[in-house]
Amino acid sequence: MSTHIVDSLSLGKIVQIRERLFKVAATGKRVCRLESGDPSFEPPPHVIEAIAAAARAGKTHYVPNAGIPELRAALADKARTENRIPVASAENVFVTHGAMHALFSTFHVLLDEGDEVIIPDPMWTEVAENIRLARGRTVAVPLRYEDDYEYDPAAIEARITPRTRAIFVNTPHNPTGAVLSPETITAIVDIARRHDLWIVSDEAYEHVVYGPWTHHSVASLAGDWAERVLSIFSFSKSHAMAGLRVGAVIAHGGLLTERLQKVLRCSINGVSSVAQWGALAALQGDSSHHGVMLAEYAVRRDALLSALQGIDGVRVFAPRGTFFAWIELEPQLFERLGVATTDDISELLCQAGVGNTPGDAFGAGSVHSMRFSFSCERMMVIDGAAILRKVLQGG
Ligand SMILES: Cc1ncc(COP(=O)(O)O)c(C=O)c1O
Repeated sequence: MSTHIVDSLSLGKIVQIRERLFKVAATGKRVCRLESGDPSFEPPPHVIEAIAAAARAGKTHYVPNAGIPELRAALADKARTENRIPVASAENVFVTHGAMHALFSTFHVLLDEGDEVIIPDPMWTEVAENIRLARGRTVAVPLRYEDDYEYDPAAIEARITPRTRAIFVNTPHNPTGAVLSPETITAIVDIARRHDLWIVSDEAYEHVVYGPWTHHSVASLAGDWAERVLSIFSFSKSHAMAGLRVGAVIAHGGLLTERLQKVLRCSINGVSSVAQWGALAALQGDSSHHGVMLAEYAVRRDALLSALQGIDGVRVFAPRGTFFAWIELEPQLFERLGVATTDDISELLCQAGVGNTPGDAFGAGSVHSMRFSFSCERMMVIDGAAILRKVLQGG
C-alpha cells in the first residue's frame, strides 16, 4: 500500500519542543520560550478597535472568499507604493488565513505531481511540507555561514531539471536571519526568466529588517517577469497579529488566479471577517509600531548575541532581519558537553528551561545548527540567554 501523503509530514519539531517545555514548566520551573516565533507585542490599538467595531456593526457574515474588497484594494495599494510592485492590483490579491495558508494555496495551484521546487536549506519547515502536501518535490540549495547564508544563484541554476517548476525565495530568511541583496534577487529573477520558472517569494518578515540592510520585494526587481512572481505577505510579524491569521498572496495569470479562488473556497471560504477589518486598519492607520517593535527586537538580539559570543565551538551569525539567531555547532562543542547529537544539546537546554530548535527541523543539511528566537519578551530573552551560555559552556 502506498503511503498517504499526509503521513509523510512531520508533527513539527518546534511543537514537540514546546510540549516538552510545558512539562518542565509544570514542575514549577520558569521556562524561556526561545523556540517560538510569535511576537510578544499586542496588535496596535486601532486594529483591536477596528475588529471590535466590525463585530458591533454586524460585519460577521460570510465574506467573498478571496477577501473583502477594501482589504484587497489596500493590499494592492501597499504592494505598489511600499513594495514597489507595479503590477499589483486588487483583483490579483488573495487574502489567506496567514502566510501559511498562502503557501498551502500557492503550491496547490502551482504544482503538478512530481514538480520540483528549489528551496534553501535551512528553511522554515512548513515550506517543504506544504510543497510535499501539494505532491511536489523539494530540491535543496545549502546555505553557508561563509557566504553569510546568501542564497547562491549559481547553486540554484545547477539544480534546475526538466521538472523544476519554481524557485522559492524567502527574504528576510527564517531561520538564519539573512537578507537578500538586490543583486542576488536580480540574478535569481534572471535565472527564472531564462529557464521559464515561477518564483514564490515569501516576505513574511518584510518589516523585521535591521539597518543598514533593507528589504527588497522580489517582484519589484523582476521587470517583465513580475507576473511570474507569487508574492506572499503576512500580518503576523508586521503587526503582531499572529493569532488573527491574516496573510495574502499576489498572483497573476488567468489559470492560477482561477485556481486560487477555488482552493480558497474549498479550504477556508474567506478569512474571518473581523480579522480582515483589523488588517485593513493595520494598513491604513498609524504605522509607528513597526519601528517600536524593531527597536525592541534589536535590544533582545544584542542580548542574545553577546551571550553567544566567544563560546568555543559555537559560530554565531548576526541576523540582518527576523527575530532569530542561528548558530553552527562545531565538533569540540559536542566533545566538551559529552554529547553525540544536536538533539542531545536541545534536550540539555530544555531541561534547563530554555526553548530552542535543532537545525534538522529546517533541513537535512542543518544537523549541526540551532535556532533561537528572540520574539518573546525582553526579560525572557535575557534570562534565557544567560542559561544558554552556561549550558553551552558546559557549566
Ligand atoms: C518564513 C515564514 N513564512 C510564513 C510564515 C507564516 O506566517 P503566518 O501564517 O503566521 O502569516 C512564517 C511563520 O513563522 C514564516 O517563518
